[in-house]
Amino acid sequence: GAPVEVDISALKPGEMTTVEWRGKPVWILKRTPEMLASLAKTEDKVADPTSKKPYTMEMPEYCDKQSRSRKEHPELLITVGICSHLGCSPSSKFQAGAQPSLPDDWQGGFLCPCHGSTFDLAGRVYKNKPAPQNLDVPRHMFLSDTKIVIG
Ligand code: FES
Repeated sequence: GAPVEVDISALKPGEMTTVEWRGKPVWILKRTPEMLASLAKTEDKVADPTSKKPYTMEMPEYCDKQSRSRKEHPELLITVGICSHLGCSPSSKFQAGAQPSLPDDWQGGFLCPCHGSTFDLAGRVYKNKPAPQNLDVPRHMFLSDTKIVIG
C-alpha cells in the first residue's frame, strides 16, 4: 500500500482522527499533557510496557518506548486501531467512568468491545487481557509540524 499523507493542523489537544492506510484504520491522537502524564501511571499495569515482544509490525526504532511516539512530537500517538486479539476495532474511552466495566482509576485509553481488552493512551495492552500485544505503531514521519506521512 502507498504511504498516506495527513494534514493534522485542525487536530486539537485531546482529539483523535482516523485515516485509512493499507485498508486499516490508523488513529492519530493528539494527547494533552495530562494524557501523556498518565502513561507513567499505567506503566506497571500494562503487559509489555516497552513493546519488547516480537511484533508483526515492529515499533519504529525512532519512537520513544513509553509514549510510543516520535521523540520530537511526544504528544502524537499514531497507531493501528485494530485489536491484536481477533481484529475488532477498539473504541476510545478517554474519560473515567466512560463504561461500567472500566476500573475507577481508569486513565483513559481504548476498550475492545469484543472480549474486553483494554489499552492505555499509548496503545499498550493491560495485563491479563486477551489481546496478546500492544497496538501496532506504523512507520511515520513529519513533513512539517502539521503534516505527516504514514507508511
Ligand atoms: Fe479485541 Fe478479542 S478482538 S479483545
